[in-house]
Amino acid sequence: MMQILDGKKIAQERRAILKTKIAQNVKKNQRAPKLVVVLIGDDEPSLIYVKHKLVAANDVGIEAELLRFDAEVSTKTIYDQIQKINHDDHVDGVLLQLPIPKKFNEEDYLQAIDPSKDVDGFHYQNQGKMLQGHETIFPSTPLGIITLLNAYDVEIKGKNITVIGTSNIVGKPLSVMLSNLGATVTMCNINTQKISDHTLKADLIISATGQKFIIKAEMVKKGAVVVDVGIIRDKKTNKLVGDVDFVNVAKKAKLITPVPGGVGPMTIVTLLENTYKLYLKHIK
Ligand code: GUN
Repeated sequence: MMQILDGKKIAQERRAILKTKIAQNVKKNQRAPKLVVVLIGDDEPSLIYVKHKLVAANDVGIEAELLRFDAEVSTKTIYDQIQKINHDDHVDGVLLQLPIPKKFNEEDYLQAIDPSKDVDGFHYQNQGKMLQGHETIFPSTPLGIITLLNAYDVEIKGKNITVIGTSNIVGKPLSVMLSNLGATVTMCNINTQKISDHTLKADLIISATGQKFIIKAEMVKKGAVVVDVGIIRDKKTNKLVGDVDFVNVAKKAKLITPVPGGVGPMTIVTLLENTYKLYLKHIK
């Protein structure tokens, strides 16, 4: 009865389509799309994510440049780099990998990125458009999740959806986007007294906390759809696990994402698609 929401497969299919489109642009003597990734410091997960993003970009024909700085770099250097990229006509998208070292005011740097190159959709201008339900660049993980649900014909409109986690990167934008699509959205945060009160009534549960197995079988309505955004290295087994106790929750869910191979690949392909979307505007 249970079916896997196979993010890896859907992402591969979408990557192949994107690769063909980019090849057609290049064949018409148009330049290749270009993405610049700015990485500061040596946060372990960030190094891995960035590597995946760069490899995936190159694979579909996006020119990807990594600007890597050690944590001691001056705030001015980073600010100047962003300005330089903003003015470079060959760059379509800029991604400032988060988290950045504490001495940087994250907000200042995200807002310094030209909104027309804001591939993550974190600039206020793009966030404001999203909030008001207009077309814009949407953050990669939330949009990737919605694309994955669409690929499996999971209805969003009219459904009760509980989102656990209210980060600026995932929970908050995702909740707004789902609401704009006509869902009734409940947002649980660190202060929520009893998460199960909110998950048990949900047709769709999306957990984005980074807390291992915070979602257990008894918290899930039979036949619900479960999306796991968590990615945690289990210290005991050294394996990657998620927010969801997959083995037990899978017995109740109708559809469920695995970790790894669920949301992660969708985030990456959406980043590539966002880069291409910006590129199409820039080459006009
Ligand atoms: N760190 C974790 N996820 C993300 C993301 O989607 N974008 C950026 N820029 N940094 C991240």
